[in-house]
Amino acid sequence: MDSTLCYDCWDKHERLMRRWAKAPALDVAGPTKGRATFKCSKMDRGAIQADAFNRVKAWCHSIRKHKTPRPLWLCLKGFPGVGKTHMLCCASNYLTYYDIPHTFQRFGAYLDYCTNARRNGGNSYEEIVGRKKSPMILDEIGVEARFDDDDEDPRLLSEYSEAKFNATNALFDYALNHKIPMLLATNLGTAQIPAYLGARIAGPAGRFAEAGYRDFYCDWKDYRSESK
Ligand SMILES: Nc1ncnc2c1ncn2[C@@H]1O[C@H](COP(=O)(O)OP(=O)(O)O)[C@@H](O)[C@H]1O
Ligand SMILES: [Mg+2]
Repeated sequence: MDSTLCYDCWDKHERLMRRWAKAPALDVAGPTKGRATFKCSKMDRGAIQADAFNRVKAWCHSIRKHKTPRPLWLCLKGFPGVGKTHMLCCASNYLTYYDIPHTFQRFGAYLDYCTNARRNGGNSYEEIVGRKKSPMILDEIGVEARFDDDDEDPRLLSEYSEAKFNATNALFDYALNHKIPMLLATNLGTAQIPAYLGARIAGPAGRFAEAGYRDFYCDWKDYRSESK
C-alpha cells in the first residue's frame, strides 16, 4: 500500500475523515490539517527541507513498523510560514491513516491540559502522557512564553509562570525517560530554546541528544504568500 497517502484519492480521504471524527477532542484541528500529506506537499525549498521531510517521514514509518525511530526526537525550528505545522500535520495524518494512536497538540494547550488534569484528578504524567506510550507531536513550543525582542538572556518573563516551567520539565523528563518518540516545532530562536526547555534540547550536549535528537533550522522562504 502507498505509504504516503494523497488526498486526491477519495476513498482514502473519507477513511481518514472518519477517523478524525473519532479522534480525541484534544487533537489540534486547523485548516492545514485536513489537506497536508507527504505526497501532496511541495518540496521546493532545498536540501534542508528535503532532509527534514524525509526524516519526518522515516520517523512515522518506523513507528508504523513498531520500531523505535532514529532519531527518537525531531524538532523543526524557524520562522512563521515555512511549513513547520504543515509537516507536523503530514505526520499526524499519516499516523491517523494507519490507526496509530498519537498525541497532536499545541504545546501550550497540552501543558494546560496536563496541569489541570493533575490538579483536578491527581493524575500522573504516566497516566496522561503515557497511555500506550504513544508518540507525541507538539507544535508551537514557546509561544506562550514571551521573550523581549532578541533577548538572549535565558531569563523568562513573568507571564510564563514557574508552575508552567515545572510542568514543561516534568513532561519532557517523562518523555525522555520512557523513550517516547517526539516530533516538535518551535518559533523560538536558538538562544531562547535553552531558556524554555532547559539543557535537554539545547544542543549536542543536551539529554535529548544523548537519546537521539535532531533539529532542522527551517530558514527558507515562507509559504504564506503563496497559499492564498
Ligand atoms: N511543503 C508545503 N507544501 C505545500 N504547502 C505548504 C507547505 N508548507 C507549508 N505550506 C502551507 O503554507 C502555510 C503556512 O505553513 P505553516 O505550516 O502554518 O507554517 P509554520 O507552522 O512554519 O508557521 C500553510 O497554509 C501550509 O499549508
Ligand atoms: Mg505553525
